Amino acid sequence: MTIYSRIVGTGSYLPEKVLTNRDLERMVDTSDEWIYTRTGIRQRHVAADNENASDLALAASRRAIEAAGIRPQDIGLIVLATTTPDMVFPSTACILQAKLGIRNSPAFDVQAVCSGFVYGLATADHFMRGGQYQYALVVGAEAYSRILDWKDRATCVLFGDGAGAVVLRQDRTPGIMSTHLHADGSHADILAVPGTVAGGEVKGRPLLRMDGNTVFKFAVKVLGEVALEALEANHLRKSELDWLIPHQANIRIIQATAKKLGMSMEKVVTTLERHANTSAASIPLALDEAVRDSRIREGQHVMLAGVGGGFTWGSILIKW
Ligand code: ACO
Repeated sequence: MTIYSRIVGTGSYLPEKVLTNRDLERMVDTSDEWIYTRTGIRQRHVAADNENASDLALAASRRAIEAAGIRPQDIGLIVLATTTPDMVFPSTACILQAKLGIRNSPAFDVQAVCSGFVYGLATADHFMRGGQYQYALVVGAEAYSRILDWKDRATCVLFGDGAGAVVLRQDRTPGIMSTHLHADGSHADILAVPGTVAGGEVKGRPLLRMDGNTVFKFAVKVLGEVALEALEANHLRKSELDWLIPHQANIRIIQATAKKLGMSMEKVVTTLERHANTSAASIPLALDEAVRDSRIREGQHVMLAGVGGGFTWGSILIKW
């Protein structure tokens, strides 16, 4: 008997504080018009000083667990994707596990930057297919505001904080139909936070730097490719795809990807305008919104497509 995994609950959380493009106009030499026309972003949420990635993850996880109709102790596995962990170690997944009041389940972080949720979900799906776990919790949580240079207008306007989570249940039918992951480390330097901690000091610059134009072109190329790879592997036509939930980095990247898939923007879930780029949290935040407002319905084909630093990219095809 083949075992699959199925998403049976989604949840998300955004910090209370909202930073609009107008607010940013007072911080750096930029304008709402520049940011909106180049990116599609109007505002982003920013975590409070005492709010860490694990706190955002906890709020999103509680909502996903509630939506799944289970108890935290039913979770057999926790996979958490983040680029902004609470600390060097323990992992944010372990911190989350403790905050959920459970123990013994394996819990670990996945680091694939903006592809993190896709990498985490693919990892959990493979564990689930082994048949050992009944339920898994997969989370994308980011406090990106901590690694931004708030004086660099080219990057600080692009990102936001938040978290999204899903509960996976073992099932006899998919669920998750396929996962395709890729990486090319030779492009590491086009998007990076090159700093690290050594000898009790921060070595190198611990803030995000990016070659925006190169990232843009790379993202457009690989998002389309990896989504088509998933369709081909499942012998599905483009027209059979009901929803595309791409990583929310830039509306022009999303539009170009939709075009490659022959999809109208009505079939693409976008939260970018209100959330900005929340890295590993962007896909589960968008997924939760589209599930809760009933856009996504049983039997539909949903494509998740992520791309991020590393470079990393991947797609997940789901029959809802
Ligand atoms: N406000 C006003 N002007 C700005 C700003 C700003 N916030 N940022 C840059 N500019 C200026 C630049 O200095 C430049 O001025 P110049 O011509 O006098 O030198 C001008 O605007 C044009 O800059 P470009 O970088 O060429 O602008 P572009 O149209 O390429 O847009 C952007 C930049 C939005 C960053 C785009 O390249 C992009 O979206 N790239 C993808 C990056 C991305 O989404 N990264 C997210 C992380 S990666 C991921 O998630 C996959």
